Amino acid sequence: MKIYEITTNQFDYMDILLIGDEEEKMVNKYLKESTIFALYEGKILAAVCAVVETNSDTVEIKNLATYPEYRNKGYATELIDFVCDKYKNTFQYIILGTGENEKTLNFYKKRGFVETHRIKNFFVDNYSHPIIENGKQLKDMIYLKKSITGYSKI
Ligand SMILES: CC(C)(COP(=O)(O)OP(=O)(O)OC[C@H]1O[C@@H](n2cnc3c(N)ncnc32)[C@H](O)[C@@H]1OP(=O)(O)O)[C@@H](O)C(=O)NCCC(=O)NCCS
Repeated sequence: MKIYEITTNQFDYMDILLIGDEEEKMVNKYLKESTIFALYEGKILAAVCAVVETNSDTVEIKNLATYPEYRNKGYATELIDFVCDKYKNTFQYIILGTGENEKTLNFYKKRGFVETHRIKNFFVDNYSHPIIENGKQLKDMIYLKKSITGYSKI
């Protein structure tokens, strides 16, 4: 398993990024300024994390996805860990926004993120079609935050 940092040709990763965010128009908004952390198993791409530097003290995870056949092997956790470690000396916080999906929220909370605020109806207002997860339509965007100052491995 190896993680590569991709800062050019980010569009080559569109296929897997659409697992984390199914609307291409939304992915296009952040892709150019994103660093993609791409996790490979040998020569095979298994998982990605797209990160944007939001301001002088905060980086934002814009996308996190693992191909279904590579899930539950710890790869997304490895990516979060890698990103926290990489930015811990230059940024104070890592944030992300996600839908109100219990599984996803618990996944991040278990890894040290706490809820900060929500943007009402974000998915209704910004996506061309209803996004259904766990049989429920996503409406609000929930923001979570984690301090990475002095970060040490999960
Ligand atoms: C969420 C996701 C990135 C996890 O990837 P992964 O490589 O399997 O993650 P890990 O192996 O490190 O950890 C597995 C965890 O994912 C959780 N998980 C499984 N299915 C999940 C799902 N549909 N949504 C969220 N979390 C899920 C497991 O419960 C497990 O959590 P736990 O260790 O706290 O019990 C992956 O399920 C995925 O790509 N889902 C679709 C896209 C998505 O929801 N992205 C996150 C929002 S941007």
